[in-house]
Amino acid sequence: MASLKAAVIGLGGHGNNHLQMIADAPEMRLVGVSDLDEQRLAAAAAFEPEVAATDYREMLDRARPDVVYVVTLPGHLLPIVRECLERGIHTSVEKSPGNTSADTAAMIEVEAASTAMAIASFNRRYFPQILAVKRLALARGGPVHAAATYNKNPSDKVVENMSRGLMPPALICDSIHHVDLLRWLVSDSMETTGVVTHVHAETYRSSPARERHNAVITFANGARAVLMSHFGVGTRIQRAELHAEDFSAYMDLTRMSPPEEAHRPDTFELFADGDPYEAPLDLAPEGGPYFNETRHFADCILNGRRPWSTLEDALVTMRLCEAIYAGHKGSFAEAP
Ligand SMILES: NC(=O)c1ccc[n+]([C@@H]2O[C@H](COP(=O)([O-])OP(=O)(O)OC[C@H]3O[C@@H](n4cnc5c(N)ncnc54)[C@H](O)[C@@H]3O)[C@@H](O)[C@H]2O)c1
Repeated sequence: MASLKAAVIGLGGHGNNHLQMIADAPEMRLVGVSDLDEQRLAAAAAFEPEVAATDYREMLDRARPDVVYVVTLPGHLLPIVRECLERGIHTSVEKSPGNTSADTAAMIEVEAASTAMAIASFNRRYFPQILAVKRLALARGGPVHAAATYNKNPSDKVVENMSRGLMPPALICDSIHHVDLLRWLVSDSMETTGVVTHVHAETYRSSPARERHNAVITFANGARAVLMSHFGVGTRIQRAELHAEDFSAYMDLTRMSPPEEAHRPDTFELFADGDPYEAPLDLAPEGGPYFNETRHFADCILNGRRPWSTLEDALVTMRLCEAIYAGHKGSFAEAP
């Protein structure tokens, strides 16, 4: 069953999340890991990779993976992603896909010349509970409004990484999750994103990583979305809302229920026709409670399908983040 040989480059906190998702994916077998940090490399032995090397090229030469997860900081991604795609290895690119939209565009060029495909690891799109809510809104005629809050109090390490050019501004590096989520929620079908036509952003900031952003986003289908994203405030809070005719979902994404309890996460509040909507979320059509971006990418590779979050799609999200960061007010063309 485990027909895909997988590898991970970058073994920080999130690289370890990917190691766990690979371990949980019946289609995948871990063949290689790489990190410049010897201690992190040694700790990954718990996942029993066949090859571990500080030099990722050596790891790729020896492990010969079919799919690789590149989970470094955004400023390190481009050359590694380029190398993987040029070798014909299917590549998962962590968010943000580079420091700038120019980085993402460069990755797209490399992918176009490669036999392999890439996925942008926008994991919120793949939460089965979010997919189930999206399906309910579509069944009621489609979204009329969405909202997202993404607040955080970045650590000193994050501020240092930003000043070293390893991460873009916090809105682009982190709130990109919820900018992308708004595009994903305000769409006319399960597998597409909404088309953004206008952005009105109010952006002000006092110092790096203490950014303040409020934006109203208009979509071609007439729906609107609101983003509120503030850094250097109380703590990490992630919330989203999706509204359709006589339907509302309020989603607390700060902490999610574990998959086995996720049919009706108590962090989601739903209302329909004026009353609380008590029915359990039906996760079966969404791939079940354990569905995630790893399962989706495996399915795409094995069945020759394009992922939902292609790099082309990620480029639109990157450009939208950059527009909000720049305080853009006016029309927004999805293609440059
Ligand atoms: N989707 C999510 O929910 C989520 C959550 C947290 C972090 N992230 C993203 O994941 C990425 C990693 O985050 P993190 O907190 O694990 O970062 P981190 O800095 O702790 O880990 C990155 C690792 O990459 C390694 N690395 C850098 N260059 C390398 C190279 N050339 N070869 C091998 N290893 C190399 C570093 O040594 C480091 O251990 C970031 O892009 C972040 O934005 C996503």
